[in-house]
Amino acid sequence: MKRFVVTTSHKPSKEQIRIAKAFAREIEATYVPRRKLKEMVESGAIDFYYVVEANGRLVIKWKGGEFFFHPSVAKLRMRNLKNGGRDYLIEALELEGNEIILDATFGLGAEAILMAAFLKSGKVIGLEKSPHIYRVVRDGLERYKPDVQWIAEAMKRIELYNEDMKEFIRKAPDESFDIVYCDPMFENPKYESSAMNPLRPFASYDTVDDEDLGHMLRIAKKRVVIKTHEKDSLFEKLSRKPHKVIGSKKSGVLYGIIYKHPDL
Ligand SMILES: C[S@@+](CC[C@H](N)C(=O)[O-])C[C@H]1O[C@@H](n2cnc3c(N)ncnc32)[C@H](O)[C@@H]1O
Repeated sequence: MKRFVVTTSHKPSKEQIRIAKAFAREIEATYVPRRKLKEMVESGAIDFYYVVEANGRLVIKWKGGEFFFHPSVAKLRMRNLKNGGRDYLIEALELEGNEIILDATFGLGAEAILMAAFLKSGKVIGLEKSPHIYRVVRDGLERYKPDVQWIAEAMKRIELYNEDMKEFIRKAPDESFDIVYCDPMFENPKYESSAMNPLRPFASYDTVDDEDLGHMLRIAKKRVVIKTHEKDSLFEKLSRKPHKVIGSKKSGVLYGIIYKHPDL
């Protein structure tokens, strides 16, 4: 998934065309008028295309799929919590409400929105390595109008950067975050987790090694939380084992907690 262009939805307004052309310039891509797109897609000349929709929303489309921002997973998980269910990420974080959290693998931002909802004065700094995922999700965070207040408030507490966490954590000063959270792509994908499926072709599949974990602990004041799947080998490969692992037996999704000061 490498060759792409920028276009608009059908019958675009002048303003839509202006926005799409400006966006194409910004990312150094080719702008293609919508009426010329079909031929490019059918001939296989491009792998995917960015669409500036009538309401300005940015979507990525390809033959048989599309990728856009939506906070539905955050909403579902909050509903589950409100109905008395457990959320292992929220349990693993043990938030006081004023933390600065680094979400090193932002993806769709569903977990960032959920975390941010539990912060009264803190914030979530998100990193996303894939420029394509970053652009669509950044646009969503700026443009999406949630129908519930808590999501609107949570989204205001999030900053997103198009950065590689491996570089970022090596440059960040000691103890510059309260918590570092990392959710790399699973080795054994859960295809039934449909929310993640549209992101897969664009995602970076970096994993976490001992040196990364060392830097994550160095830049965290309280803890590092790493998400993985019980079938994956991430925790086996790391020399420093999590002090605590919590998660759902049903889904196999695990959150490993590595405390900065395990004796406190
Ligand atoms: C499993 S998804 C994260 C999902 C996220 N927790 C959510 O709630 O939507 C992993 C994301 O991390 C990104 N990623 C992988 N390696 C990265 C790196 N080195 N730096 C920053 N982001 C990275 C992938 O591109 C992908 O979008």
